[in-house]
Amino acid sequence: RQDEREQFYRVNELAARFYRRVLLEDGAGEAGRRYLERRGVDAATSEAYRLGFAPDRWDGLAHFLQQQRVPLPLAEKLGIVRQREGGGYYDIFRNRLIFTIADPQGRPIGFGGRVLDDSLPKYINSPESPIYHKSEVLFGVDLARQAMRGEGAAIIVEGYFDHLALFQSGVKNVVATCGTALTPGHLKLLQRYAGRFYTLFDSDSAGKKATFRAMELFLGENVPASVIELTAGEDPDSYLRKEGADAFAGRLKGARPIFDYFFRDLVQRSDTGSVAGKVAVIDQLTPFLAKISNPVERDLYVREIARVLGVEERALLRKLGKGPVTAA
Ligand code: UTP
Ligand code: MN
Ligand code: MN
Ligand code: MN
Ligand code: MN
Repeated sequence: RQDEREQFYRVNELAARFYRRVLLEDGAGEAGRRYLERRGVDAATSEAYRLGFAPDRWDGLAHFLQQQRVPLPLAEKLGIVRQREGGGYYDIFRNRLIFTIADPQGRPIGFGGRVLDDSLPKYINSPESPIYHKSEVLFGVDLARQAMRGEGAAIIVEGYFDHLALFQSGVKNVVATCGTALTPGHLKLLQRYAGRFYTLFDSDSAGKKATFRAMELFLGENVPASVIELTAGEDPDSYLRKEGADAFAGRLKGARPIFDYFFRDLVQRSDTGSVAGKVAVIDQLTPFLAKISNPVERDLYVREIARVLGVEERALLRKLGKGPVTAA
């Protein structure tokens, strides 16, 4: 078992080196290098992330691994090559920029590949494998470990390029979910390094949905977290390119505690002029309000909600089951 795991790491390591060499090499990697230049990725960042390029051919990696005497069924289990019907193997990643996904120790456990144009799917990713469990892995933990410990906080973004753009601008306590939902396993991993969290998801409907789902996790586990908001339509990468690092620092400073964010958003979306609207808002808030374990914080929110919605604090407290039992 242990032996097989080591073999898997070795195969991915060889694949990472292959993609890296193609990116740096003249011919086949030219398109990848131009792409990185267009997106403002410098050489040091490319090196730190071990970025690579998968050549535009059917058996670049398969051929290389065979030369290295790698048993290809092993590489197939990692999801980087697949067996062809007529025999032989072909590459899964072709003509794509390659991100190497590493474990906290920096060992390559999977890959993500981006097309260079608008074709779909935009990204493909290694499947689950014996060394890659998506519900327990976040992109960039290896690069962010030290900074997360230093800051005591971690910023969670959606995408590869978001991670990279922040890192390159000097914000290093960052990890990326790579489009999957944040799981309790992810949180447990992050809590080895940090105690406070920021969500920084894309400012679109998918990002908002991801924010709410993460919020439920944080509130449920009673973990302090805040939401960093960007201009509508932007993601961290595009925001940094347009607005710069100072503007981002302002956004970070202005991050709002998740419950505050949830409350404001809910009020904004609801008809709080009607009794039914107010009741609906309170019904949705109460379960989360009840999860805030700091009584002072909870009390301040109760007051705020009561004020904004024009209801009695006592009524809210009763609904929470913390108020006087007798009718007022
Ligand atoms: P986005 O659609 O926000 O892409 O998906 P992005 O990160 O901004 O990518 P760029 O800037 O256009 O290059 C967020 C993340 O979701 C995953 C990737 O990890 C991506 O970075 N994703 C997205 C996929 O796995 N597959 C896809 O087809 C799209
Ligand atoms: Mn698994
Ligand atoms: Mn997105
Ligand atoms: Mn995005
Ligand atoms: Mn983007």
